[in-house]
Amino acid sequence: MTTNAHASGRRAVKAVIPAAGMATRFLPATKAVPKELLPVVDRPVLQYIVEEAAAAGITDVLLVTGRGKTSMVDHFDRRPDVEARLEEKGDQKRLAEVRRTSELADIYTVRQGEPLGLGHAVGTAASHVGDNAFAVLLGDEFVEEDKPLLPAMLDLQARTGGIVLALGEVKPEETSRYGIASVNQSSEGTDIVEVTGLVEKPAPEEAPSNLAVLGRYILPASIFEAIDNTKPGSGGEIQLTDAMAQLLADGVPVHGIIYRGHRYDTGMPLGYLQTVVMLASKRDDLGEEFRSWLAEFVAGGAKG
Ligand code: G1P
Repeated sequence: MTTNAHASGRRAVKAVIPAAGMATRFLPATKAVPKELLPVVDRPVLQYIVEEAAAAGITDVLLVTGRGKTSMVDHFDRRPDVEARLEEKGDQKRLAEVRRTSELADIYTVRQGEPLGLGHAVGTAASHVGDNAFAVLLGDEFVEEDKPLLPAMLDLQARTGGIVLALGEVKPEETSRYGIASVNQSSEGTDIVEVTGLVEKPAPEEAPSNLAVLGRYILPASIFEAIDNTKPGSGGEIQLTDAMAQLLADGVPVHGIIYRGHRYDTGMPLGYLQTVVMLASKRDDLGEEFRSWLAEFVAGGAKG
């Protein structure tokens, strides 16, 4: 086990979810509705992310929001009128689901006034986060409930005190969509690697590997100073990857956990549709009927 000068031995207890973006890939649906509230079966995407944090013991969640996105916060508020209605109807199941959304976590918000990049969005969390390590969860992907990533990431970060990333293999031609890590083997455990370099969205011929940074990070509070010192990078934006690369160069330990479970990618229409189909198929209440309809639909040449 690594003991490190940076280590506190305590797990991070706060999460930051950057959610200020405009979501141009889902226009016109996202003209008036934040993409984070698009439903996956009957829960908004954002609820899956908050549930993932809560399941790992993180119940202090800061949403980085922007113009037109305040309805995201309403989703986690109480709805006494709706609850009373469901109570009257004796619909205990839905009542429990509605109540649960307001009991998952304490939700806080901060505004990112201008879309200056992921690094900048995380930087807006500085005063809420304070001096402790914290998690960052990007809203476009989530992982299987029974193969969670965060608990192992939080434990590793408490041991090393540095940065812990989630890494996943991508096709070589996809490197220009992700932060890419170069890595060495690590003695920390199976599927844990030591990160030796980080580059944001490299062209395939320049990528140091095909290990992409997925949307889960545990970061020490020193990231905020690094963000302040980060100049605009890829796409003219202040990149979190560049701020992390600075800390790496300063000697902060950076580890990656290689994730081998399934990732649901709701950031693009195709991935979003696949997520809806996969999760609907797995549901106890409608999975069976949905699967048999889907099989027939596909067998019939997928014509409506
Ligand atoms: C962001 C990060 C990138 C990371 C990706 C994961 O990119 O900048 O390093 O690999 O999320 O989804 P974005 O998807 O915001 O362009």
